Amino acid sequence: MSNSSPRNILITSALPYANGSIHIGHMVEYIQTDIWTRFQKMQGNNCYYVCADDAHGTPIMLRAQNEGVTPEELIANVAKEHKADFDDFLIDFDNFHSTHSDENRELSTEIYQKLRDNGYITTRTIEQAYDPEREMFLPDRFIKGTCPKCGADDQYGDNCEVCGATYSTSELKNAVSAVSGATPVNRESEHYFFKLTEFEEMLKRWTHGGHLQEEVSRKLDEWFEAGLQEWDISRDAPYFGFRIPDTEDKYFYVWLDAPIGYMASFKNLCEREDIDFDAFWSDDSNAELYHFIGKDIIYFHALFWPAMLHGAGFRTPTAINAHGFLTVNGQKMSKSRGTFIKARTWLDHLNPEALRYYFAAKLGRGIEDLDLNLDDFRARVNSDLVGKVVNIASRCAGFITKKFDGKLSDSCSEMDLYQEFVTQGDSIAKHYEDRDFGRAIREIMALADQANRYIDEKKPWVLAKQEGKQQEVQDACSVGLNLFRALMTYLKPVLPVMAENVESFLNAGQLSWDALQQPLEGTAINKFRPLMQRVEEKDTLAMVEESKESLQTGAKQPETKQKPSADTVEPISPEIQFDDFAKIDLRVARIEKAAPVEGADRLLQLTLDLGSEKKNVFAGIKSAYTPESLEGKLTVMVANLAPRKMRFGMSEGMVLAAGPGGDDLFILHPDDGATPGMRIK
Ligand code: 2FM
Ligand code: ZN
Repeated sequence: MSNSSPRNILITSALPYANGSIHIGHMVEYIQTDIWTRFQKMQGNNCYYVCADDAHGTPIMLRAQNEGVTPEELIANVAKEHKADFDDFLIDFDNFHSTHSDENRELSTEIYQKLRDNGYITTRTIEQAYDPEREMFLPDRFIKGTCPKCGADDQYGDNCEVCGATYSTSELKNAVSAVSGATPVNRESEHYFFKLTEFEEMLKRWTHGGHLQEEVSRKLDEWFEAGLQEWDISRDAPYFGFRIPDTEDKYFYVWLDAPIGYMASFKNLCEREDIDFDAFWSDDSNAELYHFIGKDIIYFHALFWPAMLHGAGFRTPTAINAHGFLTVNGQKMSKSRGTFIKARTWLDHLNPEALRYYFAAKLGRGIEDLDLNLDDFRARVNSDLVGKVVNIASRCAGFITKKFDGKLSDSCSEMDLYQEFVTQGDSIAKHYEDRDFGRAIREIMALADQANRYIDEKKPWVLAKQEGKQQEVQDACSVGLNLFRALMTYLKPVLPVMAENVESFLNAGQLSWDALQQPLEGTAINKFRPLMQRVEEKDTLAMVEESKESLQTGAKQPETKQKPSADTVEPISPEIQFDDFAKIDLRVARIEKAAPVEGADRLLQLTLDLGSEKKNVFAGIKSAYTPESLEGKLTVMVANLAPRKMRFGMSEGMVLAAGPGGDDLFILHPDDGATPGMRIK
């Protein structure tokens, strides 16, 4: 692999918002990108990995106001926390910058001006909800009120978590500003739009040009069919961001300058390290550019971003690598279940490399969600890393140190076996290159099994007690350690600290694919020290316990993406008569099928088996449950609720769930022994 000339590669991960902590859901992406970058560097490529905090926007402005600090102070504090978390998870950025930087202001202005001069910007007046008390326009998620369809209180923005209806914020009843409590009014304002529509042909070609995963290209086809829209890139003051040139009170929408933050972070690195920025970004650049992102932000990266770059005369990305979301124990991460685990909480209880290994073992090329099952995590790390890999070294090192003064045999006695391990390195490298880390890990573990079998057969502990067999002991243990060296070379992108400790132990320079061409012969190793501790159940349990946020504590929700949930227990409703209750026919139902609903963020479509009949029900529980985790389970439903027509079809009942909503939602399960159709009395 390394015979060809080095590639110039620029790699990014999505920029985390500067108003919340990094959690293990974020870490899927940073770990995936970091492994790929470290692999590329090990192959001798000229590779840079950059990132930054995404520092602009209304939530950051409001949070700073609530905390009584300036937005600059807020983002500086968050940047420190983020950097420490990334460092401790061994995410080796070449640069971590901020979108609130001089480089980003200059590049955003330049790109905007080029787009404008090329005729891709237009303006028009739109009407929007406005908070007359705070004197600011309100994004959808800062308005709450009563659902116009089902009457549920406390619904945010433009869709109802209870019945799944979507509507415009002006239809919301009793609407109030979540910022001040004032009643919003409609107000007009001039906005700036990016004419995405002009790029339709270019984007259709680009999205089918090998830059995207297949399932992502297919998703984009649906968006093309639905029709591209002009993109609103301006926000009115007050706003924390960059002012649009030649305006008094208009700012770039945070999503305009966020991806430009990739360029800005790289520019900052180029200036510090004297790298040629244009060689990576000019229209005719032959450097490679990869963005690793979550599947929720594909629209921005596969449509807006290439169109903006192209329209402003820059190169477009080589590839966008999207990944799925993290679930924990089969369900969405949840604060009340203690599975919304912050990076720092993980670090306080567990080894970051254990998580890196587990994610690597489960990551593939696709965009499916990835599950961290904490029992499986423990079993896998203990069995693979401690039980298989480290075990090889610990079985061999003692003999070499004690009996042979640390010296390995002068020649490798099993060249065929060793050569097999070296040859397999090509296939493992190909899987890394393809981001098929799970396959790479499976092949590495198959080699680890083979190495352990070799030692089992040789039985150096038996030979050591026999006279005249000392050379055989040294040979077998030297082969074992050479095989271990190959395994740790292949694991180095995933386990950088462990690999570094192995480099000191083997005392033979840096681990690399190239170096493996030559086995270690006649060299001296250092004393073996334990390389990885077992993961104990008490540690995962303590971590989950610490992550549990009681609903009564009023703990703050992050202000991005997650919507605030109630922070008190709901009061008991007014009394009803027994006859009222008797009208409700509650039944045990088996969830035969659960599936996401196209176009609905919060709904799952359930096929409920009542024994004598089946019912189709749309339930607003998608934030709390993955479809797979529900199928086959028993639950309780209101079976005689009159069917309601919803946007996605007819809903013929309701499943019972407790909790305020979002990911804090728990469906009811009857005890063992209940069967579908039983009436609840
Ligand atoms: O979704 C997010 O968390 C955004 N902060 C990602 C931005 S990525 C890039 F475009 F800046
Ligand atoms: Zn509703």
